Amino acid sequence: MGTTYKSARIKPSEITPKHHYLSRRDFIKAAGLAAGSALLAACAPKAEGSSMSTPDPATSGKTDELGNPVNSFEDITNYNNYYEFSTDKRSVAPESTGFTTHPWTVEVTGLVNKPKTYAIEDLLKRFPQEERIYRLRCVEAWSMVIPWTGFPLASLLNEVEPTSNAKYVRFETVYRPEEMPGQKNPLYPWPYQEGLRIDEAMNDLAILGTGLYGEALPMQDGAPIRIIVPWKYGFKSIKSIVKIELTGEEPSTLWSAIQPNEYGFYANVNPNVDHPRWSQSSERRIGELGRRATLMFNGYEEQVAYLYKGMDLAKNY
Ligand code: MTE
Repeated sequence: MGTTYKSARIKPSEITPKHHYLSRRDFIKAAGLAAGSALLAACAPKAEGSSMSTPDPATSGKTDELGNPVNSFEDITNYNNYYEFSTDKRSVAPESTGFTTHPWTVEVTGLVNKPKTYAIEDLLKRFPQEERIYRLRCVEAWSMVIPWTGFPLASLLNEVEPTSNAKYVRFETVYRPEEMPGQKNPLYPWPYQEGLRIDEAMNDLAILGTGLYGEALPMQDGAPIRIIVPWKYGFKSIKSIVKIELTGEEPSTLWSAIQPNEYGFYANVNPNVDHPRWSQSSERRIGELGRRATLMFNGYEEQVAYLYKGMDLAKNY
């Protein structure tokens, strides 16, 4: 699948008016990413000042820690779930071209000693950006391997100092129906919101994603900043975040509010618990023929199983 799109490549620079777009140049500068930095060496984009190029996965040779090759930039940016723009995965990229991601702020508030509102540039400068190659497994039983850039969510949370009453973290996507036509659909309780238990949020695997393939995050993938929690189904990885709130109670989430029997709060990837309408025991890796067996916690069991000791994961799905 990766190579079949070659004629239809869409680059963030092509689909996005310049003034709307946190350019790759700004991203690299703000993030302090040198083109030759060790973290991004293998996918090092062209030297600063050159025009933006689409990275070629065939030559990147990048894999996740299980040896799975990363998906192509084309796949990652043309097959998206982002209901604010479209419910059709192939329409999200063209529908999101005019989305404004600059200026952008993220408010971190609630049960914290030091609430703070960060400009996106400050987040990029303040927290060292690193590459994390993670699998993303969607509840619809497809998956991809994505070379993200980002920083640990824990780094941001530690800075605002959660109080001892803070038990959960709630995330909220921007509400801007004039730019996001899907938000005019009254069937969904906008804005999109998601949540994690605080110990889940503090796990080192949970990151705030600001880029992929060494480029600023494309609109369709949740620019300018999103969550990535790779051991959970993709719907937990909320996009285009403007607010992070520490709470004492489990927050409501968009999908569990609409269909609680299908989408639970925990949403851990679990091949042993079926979605009410289909099995979760296997998945289709985009770009591959056939199916793969789905791994418990999406293959991150060693790093996260301790979080759920003593919990019945069939009840807490
Ligand atoms: N975040 C928002 N705000 N809106 C959405 O519709 N979809 C979720 C998640 N985050 C979604 C969202 C789902 S179902 C998935 S599978 C992932 O985003 C997909 O991320 P990707 O398009 O970058 O692969």
